[in-house]
Amino acid sequence: MIGVFDSGYGGLTVLKGFLEKLPDYDYLYLGDSARAPYGNKSLKVIYDYTRQAVDFLFSRGAVLIILACNTASAKALRRIQQEWLPDHYPDRRVLGVVIPLAEAAADVSRWGRIGVIGTRATVESRVFDQELHKLNPKLKVIEKACPLLVPLVEEGWVRKPETRSILKKYVLPLKSAAIDTLILGCTHYPFLKNDIARIMGKNCRVLDAPAIVAGKLADYLVRHPEIESRLSRKQARSFSTTDDPERFRTFGEDFLGRRIGEVLTVDLKE
Ligand code: DGL
Repeated sequence: MIGVFDSGYGGLTVLKGFLEKLPDYDYLYLGDSARAPYGNKSLKVIYDYTRQAVDFLFSRGAVLIILACNTASAKALRRIQQEWLPDHYPDRRVLGVVIPLAEAAADVSRWGRIGVIGTRATVESRVFDQELHKLNPKLKVIEKACPLLVPLVEEGWVRKPETRSILKKYVLPLKSAAIDTLILGCTHYPFLKNDIARIMGKNCRVLDAPAIVAGKLADYLVRHPEIESRLSRKQARSFSTTDDPERFRTFGEDFLGRRIGEVLTVDLKE
């Protein structure tokens, strides 16, 4: 089974990409909505919460976990990979979304000017900047924290004029900086992709994050048969949340366009 973790609902954008590209595998999604958002929390809190989520997903049989949450990928992934897995789950893997997105951006950028938008924690971590510069030290990377976008998406304000004007405030400076590629470094931003692309205009490519992450996962599975061969393939999809399961179900069914059945409520702790 593949575990997919997010701080809340937003990671369903990433799961949807997986279901389209790799439908045969079994997936268990966990959203820590009771403690979301992660985007303004400290390094220690994000690490502790993410590690608890990883323990939960492994306890349910995941062999591979994808941190769909950019904030968790930026702030907790490396430490989990370097310190937690070797001692506790040496034969299982946790992957994130930052490297796949950075690789895709470095590949498609025409003039080497890449913009990144994300939560405050993600942008302050400078992880996208570091990964992009590892791929190509000559890239110019311009990052912008957009802390108001997650609450607006969660409120269902995606089509409101207020949201469009806040979006403009956030992304027009990136347009003025003449970026040619924009990374949506947050699970929630694909909901706003069309508006962002419209504001950025035709000289900037806004990356389709869920499709990219799904494509990179497919590549990873080809390169790692020792992991792939242990993943169950019954097309099972299970959902769990730390908050109200009915609310999760309503949002999830609406977004995925399919019934998702019973949503398990879990209590994450040490
Ligand atoms: N999932 C988070 C991310 O992708 C956004 C929501 C939050 O701040 O928890 O960064």
